[in-house]
Amino acid sequence: MNVVDFIATKRDGGELSGEDIREFIHGVADGSVPDYQAAAWLMAAFLKGMNRRETLDLTLAMRDSGTRVDLSNLPNAPAVDKHSTGGVGDKTTLIVAPILAAAGVPVLKMSGRGLGYSGGTVDKLESIPGFRTSLTISEALPIVRNVGAALIAQSAELAPADKVLYGLRDVTATIECIPLIAASIMSKKLAAGGQRIVLDVKCGKGAFMKTRAQAEALATELVDIGCGAGVPTRAVLSRMDEPLGYAIGNALEVQEALEILEGRASTLEPAESAAAYRELCIELAAQGLEAAGKSPDLPSARTLAGQLLSGGEAAKTFASISAAQGGPGTIEAIRAALPQASYRIPVISKAAGKITALNAEIIGKTATEMGAGRLKKTDVIDPAVGIVLAKKIGATVNPGDTLAYLAVNNLENAPAVCERVLSAYTFGEADEENEAAELILTTIPAS
Ligand code: URA
Repeated sequence: MNVVDFIATKRDGGELSGEDIREFIHGVADGSVPDYQAAAWLMAAFLKGMNRRETLDLTLAMRDSGTRVDLSNLPNAPAVDKHSTGGVGDKTTLIVAPILAAAGVPVLKMSGRGLGYSGGTVDKLESIPGFRTSLTISEALPIVRNVGAALIAQSAELAPADKVLYGLRDVTATIECIPLIAASIMSKKLAAGGQRIVLDVKCGKGAFMKTRAQAEALATELVDIGCGAGVPTRAVLSRMDEPLGYAIGNALEVQEALEILEGRASTLEPAESAAAYRELCIELAAQGLEAAGKSPDLPSARTLAGQLLSGGEAAKTFASISAAQGGPGTIEAIRAALPQASYRIPVISKAAGKITALNAEIIGKTATEMGAGRLKKTDVIDPAVGIVLAKKIGATVNPGDTLAYLAVNNLENAPAVCERVLSAYTFGEADEENEAAELILTTIPAS
């Protein structure tokens, strides 16, 4: 295949054959296609688009560019994988994986680190002293067999062609392209070996996809690719206008997850409710339980997921995962070991009225700048710092009320950070509509 012709075909809006796509991706992965040609092709694909067949061929070629995990021999297969397109305060994996494992569904969940303002599950888990996420697949598989789930960092051996293309997209303004995003996400998911995939596609101010139409288009493409590759895949579309739950920051988010796992009242400053976070976890777990055949329909799957959470089975499973991966072996011991920030600074409302919007992107960026995330890949995060929301959308507040707390280890920038957090809130009249009325917008079933 002539790479210049391959680029020109897409530049002119033509359709690429599966064979040429495979050869091109092979060249990207082994370095025989230079970055300048790969980048030129990415821009052509960005501008001219790709049809479903081309996108599926691209995904499969990227999936096959590295190691493919085989989970079909696990007892209790099918194994379920879950993926979120990322958001602020999203700690659903810490609840969903233990619920699935407690129901006997095997889960090998590979997650990323946070980059930009959306947090990464790996950073959250690593805030638990001793918890190791850098396990190889052969180290993780016995944990899945013995405990039901392993929560590990994304292996660099999976879909290496995506690593090259993603790096080029990042610096050539070709990230925001649904076929390229879908191929990137699904190549890694399919290589990770899950036999059923549940996707949480976020939409709103704190998400990659800002509008419902964009999120729905991405979700449909992801589901079609998964199903087209022979892996039943479904998606839940959920809002990410305000942060999920009330803790943003690594150890704080683990603490919030532990409280949901135990079903106990918050020891953090409670927001109006963490019910929405719990509800999303139940929905994602229920989708996985039904997909794995553990429940005959979604209503009974939701009931089962709720029972496993309220009955403490999911909490026990999370503690067993922690123990197996080097962390403390009980929920109490995990909580006691979590790092705590030195200071709690209240963010005080100057306004009166109903909170009609709470901008997740501003909260996420502020937490990142406080040290809860990375601005550059090489930045070191502080696991203890972050923001705890005390008031969210729908709450009515008076001047002097506490809207949030900062958890910080130094006081130097605290007044400016308080102002940033305040700027995330929008107030309206008591009868004004809320921006984010419902958390779960729709579900896209396997096609
Ligand atoms: N996440 C990915 O893995 N790839 C993308 O292209 C976007 C988000």
